This record gives sequence, structure tokens and C-alpha cells, in this order.
Amino acid sequence: MSKNRKHVAEFLDNALTDCAQLTPEESYFSYKGVLYPTSICKQETLEALESFEARKDDVILAGYPKTGTNWLDHILNSLESTAAKYTDEQMKKRIALEKELEMTPRLEFGDPDKFKRMEKLPSRRVIITHLSPHSLPKSIFRNKAKVLVLIRNPKDTLVSYFHFCNNFFCFPNYKWDEYFSDFMNGKVGWGSYFDHVAEWDKYIEDENIVAISYEELKENLNLGLKKIAKFFGFSLTEEEIQSVAEKSSFKAMKEKGSETHGVYGDVFFRKGTVGDWKSLLSESQSQEMDRRFEESVAGTKIGAKLKYEVYCKV
Ligand code: A3P
Repeated sequence: MSKNRKHVAEFLDNALTDCAQLTPEESYFSYKGVLYPTSICKQETLEALESFEARKDDVILAGYPKTGTNWLDHILNSLESTAAKYTDEQMKKRIALEKELEMTPRLEFGDPDKFKRMEKLPSRRVIITHLSPHSLPKSIFRNKAKVLVLIRNPKDTLVSYFHFCNNFFCFPNYKWDEYFSDFMNGKVGWGSYFDHVAEWDKYIEDENIVAISYEELKENLNLGLKKIAKFFGFSLTEEEIQSVAEKSSFKAMKEKGSETHGVYGDVFFRKGTVGDWKSLLSESQSQEMDRRFEESVAGTKIGAKLKYEVYCKV
């Protein structure tokens, strides 16, 4: 049976239709100094975040936009449902309940009452967010929920973000140089990439938090899946891991893109490679990024995990 969450595709399609009415200036709002896209986020929902009560067995993924969060969303849901061995009927019921409760693909998307409705979801809940630690509900840390932090090298993240913003008609049409400067200054949705990564570094020694990189998953997906499964306590056989890996390949996910992500499927699953930054960054932009990385995260443990020298130098 299909494990696709059609309500997710519907949510995205509706949000994108609604935002067609917005002017470029209305496309973002600022909350506590950080920009969020009006089409999918509401200030009241961000204000209500503290009413979310995390569970110890929640499966949480935190990743800055364009680091591969849709990929990991699929992976975590697949690992969870495979380990739990749901019957088709049970799976159908879980997805129907998510639809009935109007669940959205990210913790911070949607309406402020969703946090109360989330209490009705059965464990284990897979929760995805782009928020930085200081913006997350405190109950995540208080209740010791496990958080997988997804990181991706800044140059590819920027290029992916640029294409994404320019391919949605509801976001302003950026010129590349202008977008580069906005990204470097944190004037993009969910704020500064560098602040986000540097902030997660402070939590990296916490036993409930583990970081994984887009690049290591690209290098060896099976190994990455085993690492994720071990961290969250999912028990899967070699064959099951292999099956999740096959269904999570870029090709497999892109083919199902319109089914899972609506009319904009191709925008979510664009290229799926490492090193695409070389197609857009000028030499001086590349050097500016190198300097910024050096000043902000190069010396941190999470920064070392990004293998900047390997993925961000020619
Ligand atoms: P590109 O724009 O470089 O292709 P997010 O899901 O956080 O919005 O991140 C989007 C990025 O993840 C896009 O990168 C997208 O192509 C890539 N991606 C999505 N699914 C993937 C997969 N199965 N394997 C590899 N990359 C994937």
C-alpha cells in the first residue's frame, strides 16, 4: 500500500496557491529578528511553540532549509514504520489520523492549535523542523527527546536555497548576487545558516543529540541509515536497511515527487548532488564564504563534521 502522506502534498499545493496573492514584500515576516515565509508559517504558531509537549520517544530531525530535510523526513518515517512492523491497516489509520488532525510537514508550519492536536498522535511521532535550538520548544530538551541534526556544506545549501526560492512563484525573484548577499547576512527564511550551525555545536556533546551530514549520507547511505537507526533505537535487518536505502535514493524520491510533494515535486527534488555550488559561486564569493566559515564554525566539532576542505574547496 502507499505510505504517501497525500495531505502533505495538499498542504504544499494550498500554501502555494494562497501565496500567489502576496506581493514580494509580503512573502516574509520577521519574528524575533528572523525571517519566515508567510505562505507556510504564522507568527501565532511561532508564539504558541511552547505549548508543544515533546515525548521522550519522539523522533526529531532539525535541519536548516535545503540541507536535505525532505530526504530525511522520508528516511525517518520509513525506518520508524519498518521497525514498528505496522500492518497496512495500521499504517492507513496512522496516516488518516495525521490528515484528520491537519498535520503539517514541519513543526513550525500551520496553525497555532496544531500543538494541542499533536497530543492525539500515537508514538513514535516523527517531527521535522528547521528551527535553531533557541527557538525550539523547551520540552524537547526537558523531556530528553532525541534530535538528529542534519547539516550540509554551506555552499551547496546556498545554491539549493537560491534555486528553491526562485522556482516558487510566491517568493521574490532574486538575482544571484543579491541572494548571495542575503544568505551571507541571514536575510533568508529561518535566518543565518552560520548561526544555526554554530548554535547546534553547543549541544553536540549531549547524548540525545547527534549530527549527520548530507554528504556522508550521499557517500554511504546504508551506513548512514544504520547510524540513524541505532541512535533512535530502531531495529532493522540488513535487508530492511537496504530496502529503505533503495526507496530513499534521489531517483526513487524524484520519481514520486508529484505524488508526495504536489505540483512542485521537481522543485523539492532538484539535483541531489554534492558540489553544485561550483556552477554559481564566483571566485570572490567562494572566498568570502571560506572566510565566513573560518570565522564562525570551522573550529567547532560540528564544523569539522562538514569536511569543508573536501566539499567546499576546488
Ligand atoms: P539540491 O537543490 O542541491 O538538488 P530540503 O529537503 O531540506 O529542502 O533540501 C533539498 C535538497 O535535498 C535539494 O538539493 C534536493 O534535491 C535534495 N534531496 C532531496 N531528496 C534527496 C535524496 N533522496 N537524495 C539526495 N538529495 C536529495
